[in-house]
Amino acid sequence: MTPTPADKPPSQALFSTIAARYDRCNHLFSLGIDRYWRKQLAQTLVLKADDAVLDICCGTGDMALSVLIHTPVHCVWGIDCSETMIQLAQEKRIRRAGRGRLRGKTLRLSVQDAAALAFEPGMFAAVTCAFGLRNIPDRARVLAAVFRVLAPGGQVGICEFSLPRFGLLRSVYWAYLSRVMPMAGRVVIGDAEPLRYLARSIDHWHKTVRLEEELAGAGFVDCHCRLLTGGIVTLTVARKPGPLAAQPFL
Ligand SMILES: C[S@@+](CC[C@H](N)C(=O)[O-])C[C@H]1O[C@@H](n2cnc3c(N)ncnc32)[C@H](O)[C@@H]1O
Repeated sequence: MTPTPADKPPSQALFSTIAARYDRCNHLFSLGIDRYWRKQLAQTLVLKADDAVLDICCGTGDMALSVLIHTPVHCVWGIDCSETMIQLAQEKRIRRAGRGRLRGKTLRLSVQDAAALAFEPGMFAAVTCAFGLRNIPDRARVLAAVFRVLAPGGQVGICEFSLPRFGLLRSVYWAYLSRVMPMAGRVVIGDAEPLRYLARSIDHWHKTVRLEEELAGAGFVDCHCRLLTGGIVTLTVARKPGPLAAQPFL
């Protein structure tokens, strides 16, 4: 596939436009496996109940909620630059408050740019980001901001789409991603473009971005990756140098 100028990240307006149908698209197009991917990222991190965790690019809040549900952590902060996404996350938080494993747990949400995090240095034991980094051109600023708010030894966990390495699976998945999903997008959200962007951005990310090198460049150490679902998704964890409070399991 030829990269086009549309490999540029979508505007905040695009995320706000699709926000209302974002969850439905996610669960439908991933056949519900997106919940498993976020759970794997949450469980990769080694966390204690009183650790503070930040989820950047939190969207409608699913990754932040996954950390609350699948780890002992009591309080997670979620930030996103889209007011509409944060509004939807707030509504979801209210709907699910006090239910099941969220009982006694807190999700704090705010509209913020991931490149200019308004938190104290060293405040968080871990920072997560699910399917967000691919949409940010200036990742160096975001990784620097994440590094600043992490405590020494703190973990960063990133969940991002990739392309399967195995040839046949890759061809089938690419056909699904680049042809089937945009057609289905027209039916489900009335617009094929967000799904076309998704395919282009995954292709662009896979071919050009070396996240491990970018993390090392930002000062992170002990970077490890794990492929999920045949390589459709890659989990990447690293940590800020410092006393080893926890060793992420990958
Ligand atoms: C594909 S969604 C992922 C949402 C969520 N993490 C999930 O797992 O479904 C990407 C999100 O990143 C947000 N985003 C993009 N650039 C951002 C930035 N510079 N700062 C904060 N959020 C950003 C968008 O508003 C959008 O909600």
